[in-house]
Amino acid sequence: MESERIMTSGVHREDGEIELSLRPKALRDYVGQAAIKESLSIYIKAALERRDALDHMLLYGPPGLGKTTLACIVAAEMGQNVRITSGPAIDRPGDLASILTNLNAGDVLFIDEIHRLSRSVEEVLYPAMEDGALDIMIGKGPTARSLRLDLPRFTLIGATTRAGQLSAPLRDRFGITFRLQMYTPQELAQILKRSADILGMPFDEDGILEIAGRSRGTPRIANRMLKRVRDYAQVKAEGRITRAVAREGLDMLDVDGLGLDQVDRAVLATMIDKFSGGPVGLDTLAASTGEDAVTIEDVYEPYLLQLGFIQRTPRGRVATDLAYRHLGRTAPAGNAPKSEQVRFFDDEDK
Ligand SMILES: Nc1ncnc2c1ncn2[C@@H]1O[C@H](COP(=O)(O)OP(=O)(O)OP(=O)(O)O)[C@@H](O)[C@H]1O
Ligand SMILES: [Mg+2]
Repeated sequence: MESERIMTSGVHREDGEIELSLRPKALRDYVGQAAIKESLSIYIKAALERRDALDHMLLYGPPGLGKTTLACIVAAEMGQNVRITSGPAIDRPGDLASILTNLNAGDVLFIDEIHRLSRSVEEVLYPAMEDGALDIMIGKGPTARSLRLDLPRFTLIGATTRAGQLSAPLRDRFGITFRLQMYTPQELAQILKRSADILGMPFDEDGILEIAGRSRGTPRIANRMLKRVRDYAQVKAEGRITRAVAREGLDMLDVDGLGLDQVDRAVLATMIDKFSGGPVGLDTLAASTGEDAVTIEDVYEPYLLQLGFIQRTPRGRVATDLAYRHLGRTAPAGNAPKSEQVRFFDDEDK
């Protein structure tokens, strides 16, 4: 069951509470994403000096990289409240109109999964973002007229795992767009140490690095693994997170040294064994691994791309030499060489 596996970077039910307590509240506690933080701190300073709201902002990147966290931090740094909602939660245009008219001046409105807004809801958003106004139709038929309502100045922060699915008119109305990057093991280690301190868990540097290296670039997964290793440490090592404890704890979860789980390995093995390394289409890959295509694309593929294990080509996914090696197979001569870091949001083969 996908939702119960440790590797999924989506939110687990039990995560809720702990995630809140571990979520940094200020920009200086937000680890990594250096370029984003630098731009943001300039935009925030400038807006504060002008006593103006920030430009509307789009955050995109795979799940668990810190989009929601960053949106809340932006609001806090601006000294404003944040109102959180999501694309699927806004059913009708009237729902959005009522959210918008209830905002206070300066508020941050965070819309998660913004690519899932319906077209008719999106259309309410356009004038709100562009002119700070709401167009309301009154009456029906020939006597209908439209009324324009001015809205308080607000900042919309949209988050999405799939920038390619955002409609062009919506995308164009964001003044600022940030793509979140996967985290390096060093950055993840920094996040893990902070979390361990908050949770009161003693650790060895090596133990933390072991977890960081297997967290597939994702803070949410890192924190989740820390929790699992904690149980193991408690029973086996008087609570201390040592390298051995981290290793054994994570091996038990069937997560390998690079953080790959059974599905990752199944994806690679399918490409190599059934399709001689590819190219394989996403749907074929989904069908032969029993995962759905969206999950493969959003959850598994970004990290495999990051590792350089697969490449995306217009004809489908291709396994690289590195993937063959990781699975202990010999790559055929003339196979796709080690890939460069491939951008995972090009959506070129949709
Ligand atoms: N830069 C960071 N520094 C420290 N901790 C972080 C950072 N980014 C994320 N985290 C941790 O990871 C958890 C998950 O982050 P968050 O919920 O913001 O991800 P998300 O990108 O919104 O995911 P989703 O796409 O699933 O909504 C947070 O609770 C926080 O503890
Ligand atoms: Mg989120």
